[in-house]
Amino acid sequence: MDDGLALHQVGVRFGGLTALDDVSLRVPPGRVVGVIGPNGAGKTTLFNVICGFVRPQTGSLTLDGRELRPRPHRLTRLGIARTLQGTGLFAGLTVLENVMAGATHTARAGFLPALLGLPGSDRDEARLRRHALDVLDGLGIAGHAAAAPGTLPFAVRQRVALARALAARPRLLLLDEPAGGLGAEDITALAELIRQLPRRAVDPCAVLLVEHHMDLVMDVCDELVVLDFGKVIAAGTPDQVRDDPAVTDAYLGAAVEESR
Ligand SMILES: Nc1ncnc2c1ncn2[C@@H]1O[C@H](COP(=O)(O)OP(=O)(O)OP(=O)(O)O)[C@@H](O)[C@H]1O
Ligand SMILES: [Mg+2]
Repeated sequence: MDDGLALHQVGVRFGGLTALDDVSLRVPPGRVVGVIGPNGAGKTTLFNVICGFVRPQTGSLTLDGRELRPRPHRLTRLGIARTLQGTGLFAGLTVLENVMAGATHTARAGFLPALLGLPGSDRDEARLRRHALDVLDGLGIAGHAAAAPGTLPFAVRQRVALARALAARPRLLLLDEPAGGLGAEDITALAELIRQLPRRAVDPCAVLLVEHHMDLVMDVCDELVVLDFGKVIAAGTPDQVRDDPAVTDAYLGAAVEESR
């Protein structure tokens, strides 16, 4: 019951503004959980709380039932990986090196010594390289291993960023707006990929997907949490949430506001 990540009555205020109010949710192993809500609902704040960029004033987080105080640079060691909005790839490294960099904490000597050509790291580097290639292959982009990220189409770069996160072999993957900037066809392919992540034989991982793209979320998530003005206004399966009048109201309200 306590498996996976949980937020317990988390509250975040920025000055007088309540960005998250009493938010509880669970991301159990084997599940894709989505967080949706109109602009300003608190989705990115929630993401930042889990990454350790924002410290909540109230409530707590647990990982497998144990208290979690996330710090951005310690996430991978906890088995949590994330992709950033935009792709955040290193322009000076190849695709393969970018993905290897995602898995450095798994290497004994580390990737940095390998990059700097220091002795004693050859075997680690070879292992990392193989692993990174496997991950790229799993996402269907091994053919781009030697390319510079800047030369690739956006959809491929997005996949490289995903590969870099997966190279760390996370138990939990956090995705913030992964469909941003993608066309309909790429979104369909991404949906298929995300759906597979918890179910695949090698390195399966749970997923928390923060996204205001309704279609993607409805399509890939086992469970949804809907935020509005920092509060959970609905939670359940996509079907349950779709038919919830509170959700329609929130999105309609937002649409009316935007069209003013
Ligand atoms: N660092 C900050 N300082 C002050 N206010 C903030 C900060 N970060 C977010 N907010 C405010 O908190 C609220 C929630 O913002 P947040 O970015 O979490 O929403 P969101 O659901 O991600 O929105 P979007 O769909 O536009 O990405 C908004 O009113 C926002 O203006
Ligand atoms: Mg946001």
